[in-house]
Amino acid sequence: MQEKIDQYTADIQAFSPANADELEAFRIKYLGTKGLIKDLFEEFKTVGPEEKRVFGKVLNQFKQTAEAKYAELKEGLDSGAKTQDLGLDLTLPGDGFEVGSRHPLSLVRNEIIDIFKRLGFVVAEGPEIEDDWHNFSALNFPQEHPARDMQDTFFIRKGDGSDDIALRTHTSSVQVRMMENGRPPFRAIMPGRVYRNEAISARAHCFFHQVEGLYVDENVSFADLKQTLFHFVQELYGEGTKVRFRPSYFPFTEPSAEMDISCTICKGDGCNMCKYTGWVEILGCGMVDPNVLENCGIDSKKYTGFAFGMGIERITNLKYVIRDLRLFSENDVRFLKQFQTDII
Ligand code: PHE
Repeated sequence: MQEKIDQYTADIQAFSPANADELEAFRIKYLGTKGLIKDLFEEFKTVGPEEKRVFGKVLNQFKQTAEAKYAELKEGLDSGAKTQDLGLDLTLPGDGFEVGSRHPLSLVRNEIIDIFKRLGFVVAEGPEIEDDWHNFSALNFPQEHPARDMQDTFFIRKGDGSDDIALRTHTSSVQVRMMENGRPPFRAIMPGRVYRNEAISARAHCFFHQVEGLYVDENVSFADLKQTLFHFVQELYGEGTKVRFRPSYFPFTEPSAEMDISCTICKGDGCNMCKYTGWVEILGCGMVDPNVLENCGIDSKKYTGFAFGMGIERITNLKYVIRDLRLFSENDVRFLKQFQTDII
């Protein structure tokens, strides 16, 4: 009898239930009406008076031990506290996990895309490594144009020594590809990364991001260009943002213009973002030069079009006042975290 009690005591001490079912099985096994303790008491009745004296006490103690253990485990489970097998306190709050955030350039790019999509523009993409034709020649760049110069363009020298391959300097190359491969009307925007051979500083970088746009159809006029871009600016920077167009020059558009908006920071009063002029330039634009249409196999007598191009970094600066371009490519989480957003 003593042996049995010792064995049961050890088992009880070691017992640790994973769940309420196991604890209930424990109760039935030891404390139930047909349980082991009941059996021991039955056995106790059959032993001699000498043993009764010894075991009476031992047996009662054992019963109390089993009951106490049961009560303790039950309480532990009921309160949801420690389950001893896992060694975990299930009442503690869980560990939080870090969510990433959208890069500010992606946020602004998506916003620009959304605005133009609502106007019926589709998104077009093309390669970052381009040939001379798509990046320059088809776009009416004269052979000796300074933009082809090593100063601005990263040329890629091929094995045979020729270097008519380059990192694209603008996404106008995607416009050429689109026009070559399709038929008007075209109404598309081209977001993407572009490269220019510039020393890296707060104000310049060897790569940046653009959204260019192209609209070619019958009877497209400069008035369409102005209205489209005016609407875009109202959507992006808010109603009441003023625009103005200044004559400019691009080889691929004629006439060409640069568009300024009233400074988003000081609302035109003058601040150091707009160099106290009240205006900031945000994009280049113009009517697609007929030579470009013809280079791409489009009848320039029948079709006209407009094009525009903007730098996403610049648009972002005017929204978030970021004064150093390098922040965009350093991926410092302290910078990126500030743009935490629900937009997925
Ligand atoms: N491609 C020009 C640039 O990269 C921008 C532009 C596009 C200007 C279309 C006019 C028309 O600077």
